Amino acid sequence: MNEIKRFETEQVKLYLQDALEGMAMLPDQSFDLAIVDPPYGASTKAVWKLEQGHNLPGFGGQWDIASHTWDEISGIESFQFTLLWLTELKRLVKPTGSIWIHSTYHNSGWVNVACQLLELEIINEVVWYKRNAFPNLSGRRLTASHETILWVHTGNGKREYYFNYEQVKAKTFPSDSLKKPGKQLRTVWDIPNNKKREELAFGKHPTQKPLRLSSRLLFISAQKNGRLLVPFVGSGTEIIAGLRSGMECTGFETEIEYFDLACRRIKEEMSQLQPMLLPGLFSSK
Ligand SMILES: C[S@@+](CC[C@H](N)C(=O)[O-])C[C@H]1O[C@@H](n2cnc3c(N)ncnc32)[C@H](O)[C@@H]1O
Repeated sequence: MNEIKRFETEQVKLYLQDALEGMAMLPDQSFDLAIVDPPYGASTKAVWKLEQGHNLPGFGGQWDIASHTWDEISGIESFQFTLLWLTELKRLVKPTGSIWIHSTYHNSGWVNVACQLLELEIINEVVWYKRNAFPNLSGRRLTASHETILWVHTGNGKREYYFNYEQVKAKTFPSDSLKKPGKQLRTVWDIPNNKKREELAFGKHPTQKPLRLSSRLLFISAQKNGRLLVPFVGSGTEIIAGLRSGMECTGFETEIEYFDLACRRIKEEMSQLQPMLLPGLFSSK
């Protein structure tokens, strides 16, 4: 059997491996938090025929059309896949913890039904409003400018999940026009989708989440020294946010390009967080 490529330190364990296979090896209730950014099944094979001299404000050059093999999943296959990873997360996340699940209309129905079938209580459904969303190129639909995030817990009939309520209420999120200091955080979040230069320094992932979004999930629900599980790592955004919150992080990614990108980002992050501990800590194979 081939050895699985991995990146392991005390704080981070990252595997180039299918999340279902990897999670199956982990013990029950070994995590305090999970952030899930799964394939949405939003890939399109459409070919855009843009006229010369098109006039899309702010989009003068080439851009990536959202078509990725790892995202080509739909219908009942998408539902089955959702049920499989959610069943593992129900087993792995403690009743005092939380699961955050990203989605769009392509998979949000499946995620919601799967939570209900597995008797995972939905705490909130958050709408992430992307004020700088990519324009609709076909002119046949509205411009998609939001994603849905479900906040779920595994407590069986009890609400024991950790919620950093007072500090969330007191906080100002500078980019968010909808959050006022001293007021409860609502379920619509105005968070621009652009990434800072440092987030793209080691390469780009086509569906990379902005760090400020992942950091907010952790600010709401993470306990320092807890353990974070990220089944679909991509470029490692959620792991970086987890490290900044003092969590131990475990993740899986199947594409070597993104696995390597995440490793580079994480190494840089750790060199910033713990310069004295860096030499000898990494056993990246
Ligand atoms: C939506 S992206 C995650 C992006 C990430 N949140 C970020 O900010 O970069 C989903 C990732 O899951 C990976 N993936 C797809 N199926 C997988 C599986 N079965 N196990 C592990 N990773 C998988 C894809 O290669 C892709 O990089």
